[in-house]
Amino acid sequence: MSKPRMVRRFSAVVRVSHWLYALSFITLAVTGYMIYGSALDWMIPLFGSLEGAMVVHRVAAVFLIMAVLIPILMRPREVTAWLGEVFTFTEADIAFLKTFPAKFVGVKKKIPPQGFYNGGEKINSLIQIISGVVMITTGLFMWLSSSPPPIMYPLHALFMAIGSASAIGHIYLALLNPISNEAIRAMINGDVSEKYMQENHGQWYQEVYKAAPKGKRSN
Ligand code: HEM
Repeated sequence: MSKPRMVRRFSAVVRVSHWLYALSFITLAVTGYMIYGSALDWMIPLFGSLEGAMVVHRVAAVFLIMAVLIPILMRPREVTAWLGEVFTFTEADIAFLKTFPAKFVGVKKKIPPQGFYNGGEKINSLIQIISGVVMITTGLFMWLSSSPPPIMYPLHALFMAIGSASAIGHIYLALLNPISNEAIRAMINGDVSEKYMQENHGQWYQEVYKAAPKGKRSN
């Protein structure tokens, strides 16, 4: 059997930043919940004490901010391409969202041709961008100001809950959903099969990839 032709999807810098952000985010969600609630109190011994969990929360926040800054400084064109796409919602995205419930439960449906990101990935991106900005801003206020405005506390908790809900759906789709789990290759090795891009990102495949001169076809 001949090997499938591969298409580059994410650079190494973006992949490392994604995983750094993901690990920091999960650590922040767990330690943050320990500070607000009591259901995770059984984890306190892992951090020595609640104060230990609060120190880990701040260290993870520094790593999360680094995960945002690294691609902005090292791959600005990839970041602006991502932002440009996710802030432009098209009819194709709405058509994708109509097929999304079937995809979510693992039923394969023909999807309308999508750009580099599909409608669902755009919504996940928007939620993570907005909640990331709010959490970083409110978190820095609470950390660095001697009298932070009281609104910072509920805002920080609310956007952590919104970001976490979207992250849980995203992790399910990436790891467990049989339809979308080829995407995981893109975030580990950086590439996916040309067939995958044709089927899942048909508009990008035709209008950007196929339209580019052969030597310049990588992302
Ligand atoms: C075990 C944890 C995770 C796995 C396996 C995972 C997997 C992936 C994969 C495979 C992609 C690329 C999808 C594509 O081809 O476009 C991706 C993209 C992305 N990930 Fe994650 N991810 C994880 C955790 C997180 C977390 C915690 C966040 C943020 C809080 C996050 C935010 C994003 C965003 C914003 C994108 C781009 C948009 C999208 O594809 O949805 N990821 N992730």
